[in-house]
Amino acid sequence: MEYNESEFLIETEVPAEELIISRTDLQGNITYANETFCEISGYEQDELLGKPHNIVRHPDMPREAFRDLWQTLQEKKQWIGIVKNMRKDKGFYWVKAIVSGVYKKGELVEYKSLRTPIDYETKLHYQKLYDTMRKENNELQRTVVYK
Ligand SMILES: Cc1cc2nc3c(=O)[nH]c(=O)nc-3n(C[C@H](O)[C@H](O)[C@H](O)COP(=O)(O)O)c2cc1C
Repeated sequence: MEYNESEFLIETEVPAEELIISRTDLQGNITYANETFCEISGYEQDELLGKPHNIVRHPDMPREAFRDLWQTLQEKKQWIGIVKNMRKDKGFYWVKAIVSGVYKKGELVEYKSLRTPIDYETKLHYQKLYDTMRKENNELQRTVVYK
């Protein structure tokens, strides 16, 4: 896959005091998105609601990360991970995500995710790790073409 949109290289920093919040149904379709999520991802709320959460999936993310996420949720455990997401304009933002079940009267009804910013060293570490993971699993390799 090739990208020649310069927006692809532009990072949106998540402000330290902000929390990006979303909830999904059990299939991963967005049921709630807070204002910060909309602002940072560049989508309007009604563009996010009802859509699969992979709407913000960045091609730099290895498949393994989300396999691990879903397996952890299926085991009724909380998943904490570093995620690079893609904005509507193809720019990106990094977060630490804490994903877990939402229970009503003891029954699992939804999933929720709370996301906070991470520092530069952590971004660098995970960019390299995810690049390596994708390479090892013969996943999409990124080439950015300048025209
Ligand atoms: C509560 C919750 C939040 C999620 N948040 C994200 C997210 O911010 N970015 C993302 O790429 N995937 C997120 N996912 C995982 C997606 O549902 C999906 O598995 C992932 O984007 C991989 O897409 P794919 O299964 O189409 O390959 C979330 C899942 C849940 C349950």
